[in-house]
Amino acid sequence: MPTPEVLIFGAGAVGAFYGSRLAVAGAPVSAVCRSNYAAVKESGFSITSPQFGSYDWRPTRVFSSAADAVAAGVHWSFIVVTTKALPDVSDDSALLEGLVGPGTAIVLVQNGLGVEEPYRQRFPHAAILSAVTVISAAQPSPGHIAHNRWTRINIGPFLPDLESADDKEEESHAATSQAREFAQLLVSGGVTDASAYSHRKLQQVRWHKIAINASFNPSSVLSNGTSNRAMAEDAEMSEHVRGVMEEVLTTAPKVLGAPFPAEFASAETILNSTRKNVSGSRPSMWADWEAGRPMEVEAILGNPIRLARAKGLEMPRMQTLYALIKMAQANRDQLRKSQSRL
Ligand SMILES: NC(=O)c1ccc[n+]([C@@H]2O[C@H](COP(=O)([O-])OP(=O)(O)OC[C@H]3O[C@@H](n4cnc5c(N)ncnc54)[C@H](OP(=O)(O)O)[C@@H]3O)[C@@H](O)[C@H]2O)c1
Repeated sequence: MPTPEVLIFGAGAVGAFYGSRLAVAGAPVSAVCRSNYAAVKESGFSITSPQFGSYDWRPTRVFSSAADAVAAGVHWSFIVVTTKALPDVSDDSALLEGLVGPGTAIVLVQNGLGVEEPYRQRFPHAAILSAVTVISAAQPSPGHIAHNRWTRINIGPFLPDLESADDKEEESHAATSQAREFAQLLVSGGVTDASAYSHRKLQQVRWHKIAINASFNPSSVLSNGTSNRAMAEDAEMSEHVRGVMEEVLTTAPKVLGAPFPAEFASAETILNSTRKNVSGSRPSMWADWEAGRPMEVEAILGNPIRLARAKGLEMPRMQTLYALIKMAQANRDQLRKSQSRL
């Protein structure tokens, strides 16, 4: 089999970390950068990790934009999308026009729900792979990636049309073997907890992660930067966070038509492990809020609410958080705009 060419689209914290591990596995890995383009073109990435130590990674090719990558004329086996999921800001699927060839798999490593749909609609013949990662990583300065902890990533084919079909149809689908190939590449690169899941299980993982992200992330912003641990330790905040998580965890099985696997953590287990969190870290939504950047509000709150509503289900706690955080963001942006005019 020829070595798969991999393109990381949006090489920030997550993209550069997993890209560097795919490169360790022996794949030629190229990167589309934006604000970090000059630094990465000049010196590549330097990565620090408690697990892998300090190392440098120079992508095979560094592009300043998707259009720049199109001009290179490479056939990509995997295009790994690791931009923030901001459907209210930009439809990033449009930027992949000209990059997706026969047999290309688009791998979406993004938080939230509904992130696959724009890619499926634009590229109906491409394999869409959906991936959920549990990792803590950041890019404190251009080209410097701090991997803090965890590496777990699950990858599954996105095959909503086969939801009620025979399992054999999913098993024989090209996207299923591409998901396995991608997971295997990561394992070869040292990410030993990378694994391939079925379409259904991957969507269950996405919903389960929403329980965590949709409860802690906006609550941190709306309470002026509370850490996850402090939220889990405070009597009222933990009741609030638990309520949101339980709302998501009881609604998701109804939307997906199947109960969560028994091994998925309950709200109580998540709260208990957050109380043991020594780092006192805050969710990345807080960092985006503070920096004046758009937050992943639609992917993390709006889309789950809409998917539930499409099945006649309301999530009032989620709806409250969504309304408040969305308006807070609009007010912040309005204030910044008027201040910049002064
Ligand atoms: N970081 C974590 O620990 C973590 C953990 C779990 C899940 N996630 C999820 O993983 C996804 C990626 O997060 P992240 O933390 O890696 O974000 P990030 O560090 O902000 O990386 C995103 C990168 O994409 C670039 N980008 C955006 N639009 C682009 C475009 N049109 N062309 C080229 N580059 C573009 C950004 O460039 P600019 O710098 O110019 O904006 C940035 O370098 C998100 O959905 C996040 O929720 C992150």
